[in-house]
Amino acid sequence: MKDTLATPTIDLEGLGFDRGAGLLLERALALLPPGSRLEVVGRDPALSVDLAPWCRHRGHRLEPANVVVKGAAESDRWMGAVRAGAPGPDGVVDRPDSTWGLAARGALVEAGASPSGFDLDDRGVVWADIAPRLYAQAAASQWDPATEISWDAAEELPAEIEAAVVQVMTYLVENEQAALVVPARFVGRVHPHFREVVQLLAVQVADEARHIEVFARRAALRGGPLGVSTTGGRTSLQTLLDEPDFSLASFLLSVLGEGTFLNLLSFIETYAPDSVTRQVAHLALQDEARHVAFGLAHLEHRAAIDLGLLGRLRLAIERRHDALASTAGLNQDVFDALVVLAAGAWTPDAIATGYERVQALTVDMDDGRRRRLVRLGFTADEAAELSALHTRNFM
Ligand SMILES: [Fe+2]
Ligand SMILES: [Fe+2]
Repeated sequence: MKDTLATPTIDLEGLGFDRGAGLLLERALALLPPGSRLEVVGRDPALSVDLAPWCRHRGHRLEPANVVVKGAAESDRWMGAVRAGAPGPDGVVDRPDSTWGLAARGALVEAGASPSGFDLDDRGVVWADIAPRLYAQAAASQWDPATEISWDAAEELPAEIEAAVVQVMTYLVENEQAALVVPARFVGRVHPHFREVVQLLAVQVADEARHIEVFARRAALRGGPLGVSTTGGRTSLQTLLDEPDFSLASFLLSVLGEGTFLNLLSFIETYAPDSVTRQVAHLALQDEARHVAFGLAHLEHRAAIDLGLLGRLRLAIERRHDALASTAGLNQDVFDALVVLAAGAWTPDAIATGYERVQALTVDMDDGRRRRLVRLGFTADEAAELSALHTRNFM
């Protein structure tokens, strides 16, 4: 019996399978339901030879005279596929599937992959609505240490003032290294579905890399030896590295530690005895303000949906305080160096002024911490009590 329905035809002209004929054929088949027939014609000498393996590979059947019968493999393959949310920040879902793994948010994700192992996969735990905006701001605010700082400014400081600056820079490098490692560890644990959070943490790591660079470079600028690093300071920083919970780590590092550093960097910028020190403190301060903003926004977001959060934050401060109770906290050399830096000279009057300025700094730091704790939902009394338990190492 003669088939009364004409079989549609595709003319590949001179195009062979070695140069993309498969694309045209697949496009034509995509319009037809499985089981449909499509006749293939063309002038490429290898057309009939190449068509059979191409069909086998794609799950289509080949009949004589180069007629392709569309198989179901392609449509079967995408059965069970789901959209991984939608592309924009509005498309973030509460619990992205572990098997979505590295798929772009909004992609059609083929089913059947293994779990990806990103354990921070709960919107309530990692997200903050401000993340996309902060990321854009962070990307636009990257600065180049080589050109933003006048490294060859000629000011020579008296040896003891220079030594004080170097001690402060030595301390800063140590703290910045902790501030780099903490977000770096979390970058690899946050589900890539929360893309803007991953991007923001990655830029934060890059920020800290620059801070390490500029403070280390200022420390070594005049060729003198670096300052000291104490066990107490490093033990305090180690407790930040040891905190596995994203929100608690963000609280201890960004809200309390980097929050306290906003005052410290502002102090160094204000009283810096030379322009390079002033510039490096100023540039780091701008970045730190962003790190604090994200930590606060993240915790505000989480506190709103997790009523037990404030209790856990309190415990985190108390636990850290207890762990550090037997350590000295801030290195005496750093404290003294801050006094000398703010004094600017070794006269009794100048040292008295420097000492008062450092006292005022610790008051400002406490005020700032209490303000941020109140913003998270603590009462003024709780905030005062918890701020007082913050590490004497500042970070
Ligand atoms: Fe930093
Ligand atoms: Fe930071």
